Amino acid sequence: MDINWTRGYKAPTRIETDFESTSQSDKAKMDKDFLNQIDRVDELFSLPEKLEDEIIICECFCVNVADIREACKTEGVFDLKKMQDGYSMGLGCMSCLKQIDSWVNKIF
Ligand code: FES
Repeated sequence: MDINWTRGYKAPTRIETDFESTSQSDKAKMDKDFLNQIDRVDELFSLPEKLEDEIIICECFCVNVADIREACKTEGVFDLKKMQDGYSMGLGCMSCLKQIDSWVNKIF
């Protein structure tokens, strides 16, 4: 949409008006851009870098990477018993443990 910032500009009354006037090729490009962003998120999860401290691993009990690092720093490896005893980690829906392969090597 071209906006003329001089006097006489009238804002559209419905936002759909702009989308309806978007060409099919522009809509297809918008869809492709959106899908590319989703692919990029998957790419970020597969990166080998260590995880940031603030990332929540167990959403049921709000256990983040820093909690795991602090609790398991003596051994330097993830200790499930210690995390369950101290934080109840994995004792809820268990989805954090089902995804353990995707994060456990990115803690230490
Ligand atoms: S996310 Fe860890 S028990 Fe639900």
